[in-house]
Amino acid sequence: MTQRKGIILAGGTGSRLFPITGAVSKQLMPIYDKPMIYFPLSVLMLAGIREIAVITTPGDRAQFERLLGDGSQWGLEMTYIGQPSPDGLAQAYLLAEDFLAGAPSVMVLGDNIFFGHGLPELLAAADARTTGGTVFGYRVADPQRYGVVAMDGDGTVTGIVEKPAEPPSNYAVTGLYFLDASASERARTITPSARGELEITSLLQTYLDEGSLSVQQMGRGYAWLDTGTHASLLDAGNFVRTLQSRQGLQAGCPEEIAYEQGWIDSAQLNSLADRYSKTEYGAYLKRLLKEG
Ligand code: G1P
Repeated sequence: MTQRKGIILAGGTGSRLFPITGAVSKQLMPIYDKPMIYFPLSVLMLAGIREIAVITTPGDRAQFERLLGDGSQWGLEMTYIGQPSPDGLAQAYLLAEDFLAGAPSVMVLGDNIFFGHGLPELLAAADARTTGGTVFGYRVADPQRYGVVAMDGDGTVTGIVEKPAEPPSNYAVTGLYFLDASASERARTITPSARGELEITSLLQTYLDEGSLSVQQMGRGYAWLDTGTHASLLDAGNFVRTLQSRQGLQAGCPEEIAYEQGWIDSAQLNSLADRYSKTEYGAYLKRLLKEG
């Protein structure tokens, strides 16, 4: 199979987080000690993806480039794509069509934070399904805010409904989509919803209709955190802080993943650590080198 490519969708005006997102993109907001985008980026890296496109509003693009560069510091190849108007998540597959160049993909929303033991295995299993698509259902208390899975009596998924007033289940579809090479072609066939957007759920429905969408459970042992409100953003930061200080391990650390994947060597890791020498983060990277 052609190597999967990654997409991080980091567009949008962040209007639900105004005024903090008045001048800076939502996906650059801090989750305790790191920019939010480090977390979805880490998920792609854990899935073994090295060619990654970041889709941003044209105005925010320069800041993302300043933060992430060409990706070579982490053994990645980063590309930046502008999204002049945010016309829905499925639009990403149209904007990224040239970048994908016929490759299958994994798209992660730039404001989605995943954490859990066994995540690399879950990602590897999704990567291994070479035809159709894989998405993840996660139980939430407030499904009406998400794309929601509808199931029949046997638990077979019959549909995915976007932000339903009366949710057919408590299972939200997370913002992590493994799709085969036909995604861009399919995105061209769907029509905008009542709110004028090319919905990801409409794109997923084309796979469901063919019986080629696998909906995997992401169980309660995983954290899928929300960053959509001021309170949930702070909660996500506190979660990461609690976890990191208890374990003495970093969550969402691209340097560590790159090193473990063998994409950068110890000399490269050392020079990255030097850059952060005034922080806990830098000390952590130095410790990784010492502990091997
Ligand atoms: C989007 C999708 C929705 C999905 C959610 C996950 O909603 O449209 O299906 O469940 O992301 O974060 P948004 O957060 O853009 O409103």
